[in-house]
Amino acid sequence: MQILVTGGAGYIGSHTLVALAEAGHETVVVDNLSNSNPASLTRVEELAGKKIPFYQVDLRNREGLCRVLEQHHFDACIHFAGLKAVGESTEKPWEYYENNINGTLTLLDVMRQHGCKNILFSSSATVYGEPNVIPITEACPKGRCTSPYGQTKNMLEEIMMDMQRADKDWNVVILRYFNPIGAHPSGRIGENPNGIPNNLMPFITQVAVGRRPELGIFGNDYDTPDGTCVRDFIHVMDLAQGHVAALKAIENHCGCAIYNLGTGQGYSVLQLVKTFEKVNGIHIPYCIKPRRAGDIAICYSNPSKAEKELGWIAQFGLEDMCRDAWNWQRNNPNGY
Ligand code: NAD
Ligand code: UFG
Repeated sequence: MQILVTGGAGYIGSHTLVALAEAGHETVVVDNLSNSNPASLTRVEELAGKKIPFYQVDLRNREGLCRVLEQHHFDACIHFAGLKAVGESTEKPWEYYENNINGTLTLLDVMRQHGCKNILFSSSATVYGEPNVIPITEACPKGRCTSPYGQTKNMLEEIMMDMQRADKDWNVVILRYFNPIGAHPSGRIGENPNGIPNNLMPFITQVAVGRRPELGIFGNDYDTPDGTCVRDFIHVMDLAQGHVAALKAIENHCGCAIYNLGTGQGYSVLQLVKTFEKVNGIHIPYCIKPRRAGDIAICYSNPSKAEKELGWIAQFGLEDMCRDAWNWQRNNPNGY
């Protein structure tokens, strides 16, 4: 397939480009580089062994986007582009709604004008809020999202499903990611956050490489086996393969389909830290800090729908995730 990849210079997008190339798909990237570095795309091209056309265009720039869709015929779009920092979204809600909602509305309109009505959308487990069943299935009702970021994901899911209900030519695949970590095993591409990392794994690797003195663990008094929060960490290359598999739903004219992309295994924050130490032989000093607002105690998926319908199942374990995250950071101590 010929695929438009929005946000392809970012963390998950760059890894997915490699998986798509390996599966024989052609890709074109649109990204405004607001949270990424074009060096990621150069390295993707090295790994993919081919050129990948790139347009530095903001999704809200309708004319710019139209020019891209006039120059290429796309079978589908994989839509990663968006702002994603949960904490920042509570401080800058307008910027999050404006970027994520307006960017996506413009994209959807330009796509339909150019006859492309197939989209895979990066959603998140955050739409479940405080889940009422664990492990979480796709049938679990969506909850009250605890941040404007989560609200944008929830609203965009609804917008796309409404559009699909009104126009059956659309195929909308909503992928709800759990906690992607790790990096391509080559160590050439990986997660490269700006400033102080919000997320756990990049914080751990920055402590390991000496950029930060210690990790703060947000709360050890949750109702979990060791008191720290439990998450469904998934290797970013497994997540990338999940997108390749999800293209099948488009080929099968799914209409609207929703899939959890997780491993189905929950591990605690402390288990992740201990595994990282064991696999990489590095001590990670940490201190216990107060709970972080908005965190839920336990969140992990039931990923069996994706296995049954797409034939996709995560292959990598926690040790692989820890090894590959460190391999990326130690080879690129200051990122790209
Ligand atoms: P990322 O920030 O690394 O990548 C997003 C990319 O989108 C960046 O390259 C950024 O420059 C680009 N972008 C943002 N706004 C844009 C706009 N208006 N026009 C064009 N480009 C724009 O993030 P990521 O971790 O790769 O996440 C990809 C997607 O997956 C996001 O939609 C995110 O919300 C979602 N997601 C991520 C996680 C996670 O933990 N990383 C979990 C669940 C869902
Ligand atoms: N944590 C720490 N210290 C840190 C960073 C995180 O203890 O420095 C803890 C958090 O409190 C939480 C766990 O590590 O218990 C995981 O936190 P992350 O910030 O890495 O991930 P979240 O589960 O909060 O959220 C992530 C993405 C969201 C996405 C969600 C889907 O940031 O965008 O996964 O499950 F929606």
